[in-house]
Amino acid sequence: MADLDDIRDGDNFGLNSPADTSKFYLKGMNSMPWGLKNRMSRIFNRKSGRTVMLAFDHGFLMGPTSGLERIDLNIAPLAEHADCLMGCRGTIRTMIPAENTQPVCLRADTGTTILTEMNHNVLLGEEEMISMNASALAAMISIGDAATESKTIANFSRLVDLGNKYDIPVMCVTAVGKDMARDARYFGLASRVGAENGASIVKTYYTEGFENVVAATPVPVVIAGGKKLPEIEALEMAYNAIQCGAAGVDMGRNVFQSEAPVAMIKAVSGVVHDGLKPAEGLELFETLKNEA
Ligand code: 5RP
Repeated sequence: MADLDDIRDGDNFGLNSPADTSKFYLKGMNSMPWGLKNRMSRIFNRKSGRTVMLAFDHGFLMGPTSGLERIDLNIAPLAEHADCLMGCRGTIRTMIPAENTQPVCLRADTGTTILTEMNHNVLLGEEEMISMNASALAAMISIGDAATESKTIANFSRLVDLGNKYDIPVMCVTAVGKDMARDARYFGLASRVGAENGASIVKTYYTEGFENVVAATPVPVVIAGGKKLPEIEALEMAYNAIQCGAAGVDMGRNVFQSEAPVAMIKAVSGVVHDGLKPAEGLELFETLKNEA
C-alpha cells in the first residue's frame, strides 16, 4: 500500500520557469514521435500554440440537449471556425460532412447516460479510431468517485496504450467529482493524474489558482466552458485561463447555446489566438452578431 503518511500539498510550482519547448512548440512534446507531433500540429495553431476546440459530445450522455438538437444545422456550420471538432463517432459520421478538413478529437469512451450511473464506460475499438481518421482521442477520468475512479483511469490508460501504438494523442477529460470542491487542488490532482497516465492534452475546468494546475500538468491544458454563461463571462474565463498558461479551450455550451454561435466562436478565437481582452472579444461578438 502506498505510504500516505505526511502527504503535503505542492507549493512550489516554478511559475517563473516555463517548460522547455525548444524542440517542439508545445509543452511536454519534445520527445514525442513524429506522428504524434504531426497530429498535435493539426490541432494547435503553430503561431499562437493554442487551440479552440468545439465540443459537441454531450449527446452520448444527455441526448439532444439545447443547441445540439440538429448537429447538421447547429454544429456543422461552426466547424470551419474551430481548430478541432470534439465529438462522438455517430454524430460525426452522420452529420459532419466528410469533406470537413478540421481535425477530429474523437470521444472514445462510452457506456452510460445521465439516466443511470455515469462513467461505467468502455472504449471504442481501435479500428474505429483509425477509420475515423482521428487526430486525437478523448476519454474521461472520474477522480474522487469511488464507484468509477479505477475503471475510468484503467480505461484511460488503455486508450493511451492504443494511441501510442499509432501516435494518436489522447486527451484526458477530467470529470467534475460530485462531492469534490471545484478548486485548483482538485482539478490540479485530476489533471496531473491524466498526464501521469500518458495524456498528450488535458481538459479541465478553470478555477482560481489555475496557474498552479497548468504548471503542474506537463502537457497542454485546455478548459471546458461548463454551463452557459453570459458571453462576457465566458470570454473572461477563456482570457483568464490563457493568462494562467492554458493552451486554449474545448468549449461546447458557451458556443452552441449562444444566440450567435458563429460570432461567439470567432470572439473566443480572438481571445485565445489574437490576445483580445474580454471586452474586445465582446465587441467583436456584438459586431459579428449584428452583421449576421
Ligand atoms: C464532458 C465533456 C464535454 O465535452 C465538455 O465538458 C462540454 O463542454 P462544455 O462544458 O464547454 O459544454 O467533455 O463529458
